[in-house]
Amino acid sequence: MADKSAAVIRSPISVAPMMDWTDRHCRYFMRLLSPSAFLYTEMVTAAAIHHGDADRFLKFNSAEHPLALQLGGSNPDWMASATAKANQYGYDEVNINVGCPSDKVQSGQFGACLMARPDTVAECYRAMQGETDIPITVKTRIGIDDKDSYEFLQTFVDSMVEAGCEKFVVHARIAILEGLSPKENRTVPPLNYERVYRLKRDYPELEIVINGGLAKIHQVDEVLQTVDGAMIGRQAYHQPYFLAELEHHFDPSGILPERREIVMQMLPYVESVLRDGEPLGRVTRHMLGLYAGQPGARAWRRHISENAHRKGAGTGVLVDALAALPAAECESRDDHEKNAKR
Ligand SMILES: Cc1cc2nc3c(=O)[nH]c(=O)nc-3n(C[C@H](O)[C@H](O)[C@H](O)COP(=O)(O)O)c2cc1C
Repeated sequence: MADKSAAVIRSPISVAPMMDWTDRHCRYFMRLLSPSAFLYTEMVTAAAIHHGDADRFLKFNSAEHPLALQLGGSNPDWMASATAKANQYGYDEVNINVGCPSDKVQSGQFGACLMARPDTVAECYRAMQGETDIPITVKTRIGIDDKDSYEFLQTFVDSMVEAGCEKFVVHARIAILEGLSPKENRTVPPLNYERVYRLKRDYPELEIVINGGLAKIHQVDEVLQTVDGAMIGRQAYHQPYFLAELEHHFDPSGILPERREIVMQMLPYVESVLRDGEPLGRVTRHMLGLYAGQPGARAWRRHISENAHRKGAGTGVLVDALAALPAAECESRDDHEKNAKR
């Protein structure tokens, strides 16, 4: 059972649920970069929790708080029983996935296709509420296929509000359920922040978190002028140091850690993962982007990629990867702060 002692600080930033990416090792790493961002698990299907080994899907490190479990499903009984389990494990929020467009998800009748079935999602919501006092929230798109209108989004939101939902994460593009891959569905339909802003203006009492295409601090600042939160997906994964910069931007009283310090702080965690019998690469694969955009980026990635899979690989791979960085990467925090002010 997770210990909830870690302080749960409110931050306007959250990191998106991303299948195969935001597993618990990734989240531990991200937590070091950003002490306060709200983290989301990968989507877990309610069926997997209901029928399977709950520990495998739900276990996490207490340092990961605040943390939401994202659930996929449309069977109210299974969604309720998965929520009861999430409650036992100590999650801070349960989020319903109404945004994923993949075929696999549609055949299971959940994800983005559920935007067209608000009654089903509301029924799940009510069943889930009976199992916990923690917030149950929804992550959705702004529309699906030809249902690309504010009114369609509003009908969905109204139904969820009636069921009791107070927080919506909105990926600001429609999902195209036929003909586009999940990857294309994150780039091809155009972003439409205005529709999300309108939702916030019409429902000021709701907590609205916007998602999609946020990769720069000034963009995050801009969206936060209208909505309550900003969820970052790919940029947080490909350039995880962005999370540290965002944290520092919103709390300049804190210290912006050096990348090297983050690596050193990861070492005890990596040791514990290795003791549990997991291979090094399960953790280090999430750390490859740490130096993205820096002079040592390629040396860092290469050293880890070439060595993490070797038999007996341990924390020395990370230490050696640091040593492989060019001298310029050993800049002090003072240098960094001077650069940031320029
Ligand atoms: C590899 C990957 C996996 C994803 N898996 C999920 C998921 O499990 N649940 C979900 O709601 N969205 C998922 N998404 C979508 C993201 O949560 C987010 O909505 C999308 O990437 C847009 O945000 P971004 O432009 O900041 O990346 C995934 C995205 C990526 C790149």
